Amino acid sequence: MHDLKTPIAIIEAGINSLINTKDKEEQLSQRQQKTLARLLRNVKNAKNLVNDILEVGRSSEGIINNRRCLLCELLLPSIVEIIDLTDNTASERIRVCEDMDALIMELSKKDILLTMDQTLWRKEVYLDPRKINQIFRNLISNAIKYRKKTIEIHIDIKKSKDHSENLIVSVKDDGEGIEKIYHKKIFESYFQIEDEREDCVRGHGLGLAGILILIEDMGGRMYLESGEGKGAKFSVTLPLGVCSID
Ligand SMILES: Nc1ncnc2c1ncn2[C@@H]1O[C@H](COP(=O)(O)OP(=O)(O)OP(=O)(O)O)[C@@H](O)[C@H]1O
Ligand SMILES: [Mg+2]
Repeated sequence: MHDLKTPIAIIEAGINSLINTKDKEEQLSQRQQKTLARLLRNVKNAKNLVNDILEVGRSSEGIINNRRCLLCELLLPSIVEIIDLTDNTASERIRVCEDMDALIMELSKKDILLTMDQTLWRKEVYLDPRKINQIFRNLISNAIKYRKKTIEIHIDIKKSKDHSENLIVSVKDDGEGIEKIYHKKIFESYFQIEDEREDCVRGHGLGLAGILILIEDMGGRMYLESGEGKGAKFSVTLPLGVCSID
């Protein structure tokens, strides 16, 4: 799996250099630009898939690279990556959001409703950024894939009985929902519910199984609330590691 990283990086760099060509003589036609944009989207998906599988392997080996970072530094890159797959002008606007209100406004244009307390935007946490990115990305992209119109992301920090802090992330969509009989199955690798929608891009059935491993290895939990026709809400609770003094 690791050997796939180099060829993917080379393909991505090649596509980017063609897209960003400044030479007037070499201007691309609209059809070429469209094709390259599609290639880039697919290569980014392939890169994410490889990185996600490698991260699950690292996690199973007990490797957790916690570091001090701000909550906004964890949230923004995952959202940028997701939006970038469908709309790279919107993702550019999101990339430069400097505060929570700006991000909330940009996301609402995409029917993504973000709610979190203002004080959490620059809250310092001690977590593994790669794992958090994978968790956010998988939950949000599923919700976008299955929604009818909107998704809601809620972020919070709550104290447990022993006063330790937990990060709570919930991602809710207004899609068809998930029947009770599948509530366990969807967390198994390669399991996908039969989907009749023609426009649907098939994944691999690895997303939820992968992030469940990451979440449990980080000492957290994932819950699903959903019923047929009622949308789906995935909630993740992660203990915020105690920050060691560097
Ligand atoms: N928000 C959701 N609404 C309805 N069904 C969902 C939702 N999220 C996941 N599912 C169901 O659970 C299955 C497993 O999800 P999972 O994220 O593991 O795989 P995937 O999205 O199909 O592929 P991958 O994540 O590997 O690209 C999905 O195929 C789908 O049937
Ligand atoms: Mg998925």
